Amino acid sequence: MSTSDIASIKTEVAQAISAATGKDELEALRIKYLGRKGLLAEMTQSFATLPAEEKPQFGRAINELKAYLVGLFAEKQKSLESSGKEEKNAFVDIGMPGIAQEIGRMHPLTQVIREICEIFSRLGFLVVEGPEIETEENNFTGLNIPLEHPSRDAFDTFYLKNQKLLLRSHTSPVQIRAMKSRKPPLAIVVPGRVYRPDALDASHSFMFHQIEGFMVDKNIKFSDLKGVLEAFAKSVFGDQIKMRLRPHFFPFTEPSAEVDISCIICKGKGCSVCGRKGWLEVLGSGMIHPNVFKHVGYDPEKYTGFAFGMGVERIAMLKYGINDIRLFYENDLRFLKQF
Ligand code: PHE
Repeated sequence: MSTSDIASIKTEVAQAISAATGKDELEALRIKYLGRKGLLAEMTQSFATLPAEEKPQFGRAINELKAYLVGLFAEKQKSLESSGKEEKNAFVDIGMPGIAQEIGRMHPLTQVIREICEIFSRLGFLVVEGPEIETEENNFTGLNIPLEHPSRDAFDTFYLKNQKLLLRSHTSPVQIRAMKSRKPPLAIVVPGRVYRPDALDASHSFMFHQIEGFMVDKNIKFSDLKGVLEAFAKSVFGDQIKMRLRPHFFPFTEPSAEVDISCIICKGKGCSVCGRKGWLEVLGSGMIHPNVFKHVGYDPEKYTGFAFGMGVERIAMLKYGINDIRLFYENDLRFLKQF
């Protein structure tokens, strides 16, 4: 191998490097020429077989070539890297479809709560809220619920460590709060969460929502209760709906009634949803007990009033034909997106 061979190798490699278009290609060239078993290594080995007088010149030429090639590779490497970056930054495909913005929606329970509160607002009711942590006094005593009543049991109410405080088991304690802080006439609805230690199944949850309603004035009669509830039932379930009141008992109302609507599935004929009865229970109600008025400092001889309470989940399940209460709490978008 002569010095002129070295010169031709130099041009050959220089051309190959400058033609390389990618990092992999460049690396393959580097291995071919500068690698451990590459061309330059081979040439260096042949050094030993040269006649002594040629050795110094050849040695210098090889070292020069090596330095030259190392420089060329480094330069090319740099230029490939920077042009790659520029390409990435410069490439904007303006024809690509954009990323659609997801639009949020109200939870079905929120929708039903708002709808019901709006119906009562139109009838002149004020929307009021109360705390979820309540006193025994507001949740039970003020509502004429005797000390030995089973609903006070720890099986039916979540008590806090301080035994006087609890998670409200219904929205009725807000009757006490509202009446204590205001004077009649009153027409109020109260939406909110309530808690009961029930095992979770298709129709029970340890937390659910209620809407309480009550009206107090001189001369409020049972027929006023009936008229308000009928207007409510028809607004939510449609004009064809029939309503009936069944005598019942609540400590805080007298007389008391449970309210049924004609089954919205079978229209009263009897089906599996209504248990072949043709009627669906939707709420509890009655005329506010004189003892409740006495507790809040209202004169029961002067004022009368009605109250009612309904479960929001139950109303929503009937309205939309939902058969499992747990669907409301699982945040499954496939369910929530239907409302
Ligand atoms: N608080 C009762 C319940 O949770 C419902 C109710 C409210 C009944 C007001 C009558 C009057 O079952």
